[in-house]
Amino acid sequence: MNANELRQKYLDFFKAQGHAVISSASLIPENDPTVLFTTAGMHPLVPFLLGEKHPAGNRLTDAQKCIRTGDIDEVGDRTHHTFFEMMGNWSLGDYFKKEAINFSWQFLTDAAWLGLDKNRLAVSVFQGDADAPYDEEAYQIWEEIFKSNNLPVERIAKLPKKNNWWGPAGVTGPCGPDSEMFYWVGDADKVPASFNDDNDLWVEIWNDVFMQYNKTAEGSFEPLKQTNVDTGLGLERVLAVINGLNDNYQTELFRPIINKIEELSNQRYGVNPETDKAMRIIADHLKAATFIIGDNRGITPSNTDQGYVLRRLIRRALRYGRQLGINQQNITWPAEIANVVSQIYVDVYPEIKNNLTMVSGELTKETEKFSRTLEKGILEFEKLAQGALSGEAAFMLYQSYGFPLEITEELAAEKGIKVDKEGFALELAKHQELSRTASAGKFKGGLADHSEETTKLHTAAHLLLAALRQVLGDHVTQKGSNITSERLRFDFSHTEKMTPEQIAKVEELVNGAIAADLPVTCEELSLEEAKERGAMGVFDSKYGERVKVYTAAPLLADGKPDVKAAYSQEICGGPHVNNTGILGKFKIQKEESSSAGVRRIKAVLGA
Ligand code: SER
Repeated sequence: MNANELRQKYLDFFKAQGHAVISSASLIPENDPTVLFTTAGMHPLVPFLLGEKHPAGNRLTDAQKCIRTGDIDEVGDRTHHTFFEMMGNWSLGDYFKKEAINFSWQFLTDAAWLGLDKNRLAVSVFQGDADAPYDEEAYQIWEEIFKSNNLPVERIAKLPKKNNWWGPAGVTGPCGPDSEMFYWVGDADKVPASFNDDNDLWVEIWNDVFMQYNKTAEGSFEPLKQTNVDTGLGLERVLAVINGLNDNYQTELFRPIINKIEELSNQRYGVNPETDKAMRIIADHLKAATFIIGDNRGITPSNTDQGYVLRRLIRRALRYGRQLGINQQNITWPAEIANVVSQIYVDVYPEIKNNLTMVSGELTKETEKFSRTLEKGILEFEKLAQGALSGEAAFMLYQSYGFPLEITEELAAEKGIKVDKEGFALELAKHQELSRTASAGKFKGGLADHSEETTKLHTAAHLLLAALRQVLGDHVTQKGSNITSERLRFDFSHTEKMTPEQIAKVEELVNGAIAADLPVTCEELSLEEAKERGAMGVFDSKYGERVKVYTAAPLLADGKPDVKAAYSQEICGGPHVNNTGILGKFKIQKEESSSAGVRRIKAVLGA
């Protein structure tokens, strides 16, 4: 079974169980300043898990693009990835544990679906702690299934929160006990009688989360108004498993990238654990970088936020490329890999192919930049490395030249000198403590933070986009937005610096729309209807789903917005204010370049 068939099978199965198929959201979260990337299928659905009505109904399924950087140290093994696809099904206050677990079991084992060997499956449930009780219900549901299939109940493990609890995706928000499913990838005749968390031949493939709680900013767990199911099945892992491979990099979602790396480095995969690890990291990181830049809300390398994560991924890949012996004169090799990635995903995520020129350009620019930094750093290293290299010096190289300790060690080894590794670790720890304190502020508020100020700024962002299009032209589209309770940051496609007159005009238009006290209405439309009406938004969906459109316009006699007189219409998850009149005075504080072809505005609402 190939990846496209597997994805389709999953969606078909849940469609047959009454779920609406929705399309993957962007990797860059919209209007959620608390996290940098979409980390799970549930992430774009948070408002609905908290009780808002989803236009497509209360049973949903999709395959969602995700980026996780928390596991970066695990990347390089057989199963962890920075970019991955998560297939999922959701019950928004509809079915709960019994149906969810039985759906999972049926999809995994029924011959009409995946038909996996039941004897290779194990599961785990939450054992309970001070925050929430033991999940006896989930245990009993599994026990019944295992017994009726003559499987040992010792393969149902009860584990603590560390293993069997999921969420919230940010600091606050929906969460709950979960039940995980594992597949034995070792020999068929050696399946252990019981599940053991330490044995990595048990590969986690699916997680059913029972969202019963909302974690508050104070750290307490309050019961949610509605109980939800959130499940996540890792596409790459399951694809490997059903094809009898115990290495995700051997699947068609990675193998062409590995082939390219073999060609570039003149090394073979599967020969040496060290070079295998380097190849996997390069494949993983450059695939992730390609998806981040190639997203329809894509971003470019920088020193802050998502741009910084992106830069680190690229540089880490470059470093391993150097270690593998890829020709350092060839600065387009990462772009060559992006090209392979675009081919792998051309049918599912065409945005990569469509944005490939931009992706290749950015990768090559960053490669060039890093090789210059590397040269300068090597000169600095020569100066510092007299007899031995202190921890402070190694840290300075890391901090100022982006030299990971391994590069410094490589250079030192060439000269036959020693690096004070403990000293480096100490400096690093000091620094991390500082940056953790600094970024703590950023995560305050949490996912559920729909405070009044952010809601107002969110509506202001819609008015701003409409005004920019009026003043600068229809080529202007939104490239990103980030809202805190103090200000609005808005990225949009436009190449030139705005003139003071243009800025004044945009302010005037937005303030005009505020003064007009326009009602903001929310309607549920099909994607096609929204497009026809001229609503702004990303139209890359394939499934004909229903979306919410927020319109700032005077109302007609029937209470519907007068579309012809609309000031702004956008596909959006909300929430928004009910009337533009309450926004206050809109002021642009700054207009600057964000990256090639993208400008950035910072704006506030005042009294
Ligand atoms: N949110 C859960 C996870 O990411 C299940 O989808 O594992």
